[in-house]
Amino acid sequence: MDLGLKGKVVLITGGSKGIGFACARAFAQEGAKVAIVSRDPANLARAYEQLKQEGFHVHRTRADLHEPHSAADIVEEVSTAVGPIDVLINSAGAARRYDPETLDADAFKATMEAKYFPYIYPQQEVLRRMAERAKAGSGGEPGTIVNIIGMGGKVASDIHIAGGAANAALMLATVGLAHYYARYGIRINAINPGATLTERVEEAVKLEAALQGVENAEALARGQAKVPLGRYAKPEEIADVALFLASRRASYVTGAIVPMDGGSAPLI
Ligand SMILES: NC(=O)c1ccc[n+]([C@@H]2O[C@H](COP(=O)([O-])OP(=O)(O)OC[C@H]3O[C@@H](n4cnc5c(N)ncnc54)[C@H](OP(=O)(O)O)[C@@H]3O)[C@@H](O)[C@H]2O)c1
Repeated sequence: MDLGLKGKVVLITGGSKGIGFACARAFAQEGAKVAIVSRDPANLARAYEQLKQEGFHVHRTRADLHEPHSAADIVEEVSTAVGPIDVLINSAGAARRYDPETLDADAFKATMEAKYFPYIYPQQEVLRRMAERAKAGSGGEPGTIVNIIGMGGKVASDIHIAGGAANAALMLATVGLAHYYARYGIRINAINPGATLTERVEEAVKLEAALQGVENAEALARGQAKVPLGRYAKPEEIADVALFLASRRASYVTGAIVPMDGGSAPLI
């Protein structure tokens, strides 16, 4: 199936690790021009070298997206160095879990800064430019955005209330902006992963193993046994759906929020 992504400029926030890295590889395999962003130069260098070994060249940029002006800087840099952005994949998030009894207003604020704004800043900057392109009538699809959000925004969990609230807000922003920007042909969609096997989840498994007094493998097996599909997602599986949503094969899909939790939450 030709996804029509060859030569497209794809900016992936959080592209140095986990789901974002899987997206970087998947879009590169489709022949897209990929730019990745994250905070830690060592993570960026590791991702860059890994993809280079696989035969792909990606543009890499260091930025902390919780800083309001960083998004404008990276979008400008990538647009100049690689080209106007056709696809934005937002996957740079780092929401902490909290004991609900210690969850104060500062924790909510910190979580919005760690998960909500690092998605909103690049999204608003890229949207502004995509809309300008559409108004200028340059032809073709002006662009599309995929937000990697999380099922915690649909199903509350005692230790993920602040992160879940940020995710719920991101879902509302996704559908609201999709509704408005459809007039310009800009599509905005989201994926809600459940537990996905990235370093973030590996750390959670280690904690769970320590709490349960079992080996990591046993804690992982117990967690996965709770999922109707019998296992956690692989980052590559999330990336495949991001590819589809960003592609012309999804040209009439906008404002969709795709759950990818292995059937865990039977919600409409
Ligand atoms: N894995 C799961 O089970 C799961 C489930 C549901 C939702 N999600 C969501 O999916 C997204 C990706 O998760 P993941 O598991 O792939 O996480 P991950 O492996 O920890 O990767 C997160 C990426 O984001 C970057 N990053 C974090 N904060 C940043 C910031 N302020 N500015 C720039 N870059 C930043 C990190 O690199 P640096 O450290 O170098 O900045 C890294 O590249 C997150 O928003 C997460 O909440 C994940």
